[in-house]
Amino acid sequence: MTATDGGEFHSLARTSDVAPGKNKAFQLNGHDILVCNINGEFYAVRNMCSHAEEKLEGGRIRGHCVVCPKHGARFDLKDGRHLTPPAWTGIATYPLRVVDDRIEVQLNPQDPPAPKRVASIGM
Ligand code: FES
Repeated sequence: MTATDGGEFHSLARTSDVAPGKNKAFQLNGHDILVCNINGEFYAVRNMCSHAEEKLEGGRIRGHCVVCPKHGARFDLKDGRHLTPPAWTGIATYPLRVVDDRIEVQLNPQDPPAPKRVASIGM
């Protein structure tokens, strides 16, 4: 293991557990992890919207985004950044790899990119 490693990978699910275009939540060592399948590409994010802390499970997959089922905020599954209000911050992502038919994740979530500051407009 190197200093840049996020730790060991843990088996979370089988690839067949999450159908293409769908997502499913899994619990592992106290982590609530949402796995999303985009045409065979798998992503793992924290199963908690940053807006009002509602579960993201069951949210629609649109492109590389998951849409919060409660109020519709969109999050990029690649890095967790928020793309639309009402969320103003992103969600954590988990490093994921597929080994044979197993989905494995590191339990060292990555923070999303910091929100961009919007300059105030003087009048
Ligand atoms: S709880 Fe997700 S957008 Fe409000």
